[in-house]
This record gives sequence, structure tokens and C-alpha cells, in this order.
Amino acid sequence: MRILFVASEGLPFSKTGGLADVVEALPKALVQQGHEVAVVLPRYRGAKNDAAVLPSVTVPMGARLRFPSIGGGALLHGVKYFFVEDAEYFDRDGIYGGGWGDFSDNAERYSELCRAAIEVAKHVWPADAIHCHDWQTGLLPVLLRTSHADDPLVKDTPVIFTIHNMGYQGVFGRDVIERAGIPAGTFHPGGLEYFGKVNYLKSGIVYSDYLTTVSRKYAQEIQTPEFGYGLDGVARGRGDRLVGILNGVDYTEWSPDTDAFVAEKFSLKDLHGKHACKTELMHLFGIAPEHAARPLIGIVSRFADQKGFDLIAERAHELMREELSLVVLGSGERRYEELFQALAAAYPGRAGARIAYDNAVAHKIEAGADMFLMPSRYEPCGLNQIYSLKYGTVPIVRATGGLDDTIETFDLEHGTGTGFKFVEYSGAAMMYAVRQALHHFIDERIWKRIQLNGMAKDFSWNGPAREYAKLYEVAWNQRHPGQSVPKPKESQAPNVSSGGRPTERNQKSSRSSN
Ligand code: ADP
Ligand code: GLC
Repeated sequence: MRILFVASEGLPFSKTGGLADVVEALPKALVQQGHEVAVVLPRYRGAKNDAAVLPSVTVPMGARLRFPSIGGGALLHGVKYFFVEDAEYFDRDGIYGGGWGDFSDNAERYSELCRAAIEVAKHVWPADAIHCHDWQTGLLPVLLRTSHADDPLVKDTPVIFTIHNMGYQGVFGRDVIERAGIPAGTFHPGGLEYFGKVNYLKSGIVYSDYLTTVSRKYAQEIQTPEFGYGLDGVARGRGDRLVGILNGVDYTEWSPDTDAFVAEKFSLKDLHGKHACKTELMHLFGIAPEHAARPLIGIVSRFADQKGFDLIAERAHELMREELSLVVLGSGERRYEELFQALAAAYPGRAGARIAYDNAVAHKIEAGADMFLMPSRYEPCGLNQIYSLKYGTVPIVRATGGLDDTIETFDLEHGTGTGFKFVEYSGAAMMYAVRQALHHFIDERIWKRIQLNGMAKDFSWNGPAREYAKLYEVAWNQRHPGQSVPKPKESQAPNVSSGGRPTERNQKSSRSSN
């Protein structure tokens, strides 16, 4: 089949979080299984402009018209990339906003992305299905089913919508109906209205053919008030069209035996190199050499409430009284940046913090730490704990969403399990799990068992990509009863050529709106 991905960020061009990893890796995996995939992204600052494949598309934005162009069209790993080019909207510092908050015109910016993507499907790259991601693409299905309902080129194209995070919904004042050119007839409680406001994520949930989210557990959780962020009823209402498909990992990027960022490569068969990685990591974060025998806990994260750092704030000194060292890489909410900076200052030589976004250091933490702490309040999937498994870095996680689905509690009696989990969202429960890990670290033989159990796991994209392909097929069948599904070509070797120079990750910013 031909699948058109539409997203607000995707590697190697732009990234604020795991969405970008998925938007790069899933298309690659689908192509390897013989499908054709194109990705539509905004052209953010720093990426060079390609020749236009559509010099100007007309986008109604309320009373005004806008004329972005569509650039790109080259292949990268067999995937085609198209860029919505509109310097006024996208050539800015930051993707969604900056330290001061979100851009005030995000409703319009991402309305334009959706409308331009539909033009790509109509005029440049006809698709059998469109796969949208998160609130930024929530208007696409509603536009397809209203403004384009009679358009023979796209009216029967099914939309699959993936919720990567229910906590970010794109909620705007009613005036965006006008400003962002949203069909007014959709502003009602059964449509995209949400308590008198416009909710882009709700639009995606209501108007798409099928919904997915990024782990089975999170698919259940978002149908409950605790995790639904006010949209649990809407999610329940579409429960028969909602499936959880666990994210995979691109092991060409995240494998200790090939990783270009690590001090010394290692593998399941020979763990020796991990020692050199730990030494380098300690040096990088100013951890004193005399603590080399102690377990080193790593954290790599956006600093957001979702990630459970209030538990660490509550127990910081208790944590540091244990026999351990801590290295933290992240950026985001100021109070957490300050928390980790203060910890590093209070425990020199034992705690280190880097307030930054740094892919190389993220790899070094995965490789060099002994344990990886992820105490998330909620976690739709989470990628870092899965990366950790491959690097023999034992995850300590809260049993929620994808963390629960990917980490098995270590069972001493049977020698099974890959990490340590706690259920109750409390500092005490987190500390209990940390202490269990510390306890087992002392016995080298047991610790190696846990590491090897994790390293042997396979979370590659092959399985999940097949599940998505099946879903595209089901969605297509429903809109084309009695017709046979467009078949994938024979498995094709990825055609690697450059598709415009990838940028370094675009500036960190919140991924909000709301
Ligand atoms: P989320 O998307 O909620 O932030 P995920 O675990 O799905 O969480 O994905 C986070 C991704 O972002 C991972 O690839 C992780 O390595 C990366 N990442 C997060 N913070 C940083 C950072 N400060 N520096 C480098 N990479 C980071
Ligand atoms: C979101 C979630 C994260 C998930 C990622 C990719 O950002 O917070 O848990 O792994 O999307 O799906």
C-alpha cells in the first residue's frame, strides 16, 4: 500500500521527543516490508529548502488565503519526504514555542500543515491511507470528511490517527474556527468542540477511521478519567476503533555493538566494553573515579510533569544517601532543571546534570549507566527504557503505559525479568524499587542475568509495522467494500539517497498547546 504520514516532527529533520523517532523509524520499517511511504513535515528553521514540487498551494485561513509551497520529494532510506514551506510560520527559533510558552498562532500553523498535506495527497503523491500523529494533525481527518467530502481524489482515503500523548491536545479559543479556517458545522459536542473551545486532538479522535496509541496498556488507560485528560469519554466512545500498538526501536541507531557515540562497543556476547563506557560517562559528568564500583543511575528526559520528577524532588536527598551516583540529561520545565542542578551542586563528584538536548550524550548514558530511572506519572510508550534494555542498563520504572508493557519485574527465583517496577505513584514506592535494584546490583552474577535478559529482548519495528499495515488494510477495506487491497510490492531494498540535508535537532521547545 501507499501510506502518507503527516506529522509535526520527524528525524532526521526535527525532534522534540519520541514522536520524531517513531516518524522516522516506522516508515523505514514499512518500506522494508514492501510498502511505499511518504512523510509530510513542516520545513523548520535550519533545514535547507529543496526545489518545490508544488510551487504554491492555496490554503484558506479564515478570511485570508495563504500560499505555502511543497518542497522535497527525495528519498531517504526508501522513504519520500515532503516539506510544507512557509517561512512566516515555520522558520522560527523553536518548533512549538520557546521558554516563554507556545507560539500564539499554533492553531493556524498546524491547520496549514494539514491542508497542505491533503494537497500532497491530491496532486503529488496519491495515497491509499493517511497516517496522522498527535494533535498537530488532528484537523486533517475533519477537513477530509467535510471540506473534501465530495472530492473524488481523497474522499475515500482512510485516516489512521495515532495518539502519542493524551496530555497535549491543542486546545484553542473558539475564534480559531475563523482564524484557522475550520468548518463551523463541526463545532459541536459530537465534533471538535470541547467545553466551548476547539480541541484538535478530539478532532483527530472523532473523525479518523481508526485510532492507535503507542502501547496496549495506554490504549486502556486513556479510556479512564485518570489518564484521559478529559477525553476519556471520547476515547471510550471510539473504543471499538482504538488499538494499542507498541512502538519499536530502530536498532540501527540504538545498539551497543554498532553505536558510533559510545566509548567502546559491546554486545550480549561480550559486555566488557560497557566498563569503558561507564568510565567515560563518569568523567563527562564529573563523577569521581572512587565511585566506580557503585551503581550509576542515568536519566535522559524532557523535563515535564508527565515524567514523574516530582517523586525525585520529594526523595532527592534520601536517594543520594544510598550507595549510588546519578547522571541526568534533560531540559524543559525550569523547576526540574533547577532541581537537578541543585543536586549536582549538593553532591559534587556523585551527581552530575546537563541541562541540554544532546543526542550523543543520550547514547553515552544509555551505554555507560548501570540503571535507568523513569518514574513517569504516565507514559504512553517511552523509548528510553527500551533503548536501555539493549545496552544492559537496567530500567527502574513506574508500571504505567508502555513502561509496564515493556519491562518485566526481575524474579530471583526463576531468573526471569528485565528490570524493576513500582505501581503506586509515590516517592516511597519509587525508593522501594530503587533499593531492590541496588540490592541485586551487589551480586554480579545476578546483575548480569538481569542485563542479559534485557539485552536479549527484541523490540524491533518489524512486528509493529506489520500490525500497522494490517490496520491500513482494514481501514482501506471499509472504505472500498468488495475491492481488493493494493498489494505491497515484493520486499524492496531500501533505496538510500540524500533527501535534503538533515538538520541537527531543532531547538528544544515545549510540545504543547496545553
Ligand atoms: P517523550 O516523547 O515523551 O519525550 P520518549 O521516551 O518516547 O519520551 O522519547 C524521548 C526521546 O527523546 C528519546 O529518543 C530520547 O533519547 C530523546 N531525548 C529526550 N531528552 C533528551 C535530551 N535532553 N537529549 C537528548 N535526547 C533526548
Ligand atoms: C510521546 C510519549 C512517549 C512515546 C512517544 C512516541 O511523546 O510521551 O511515551 O514514546 O510519544 O510514541
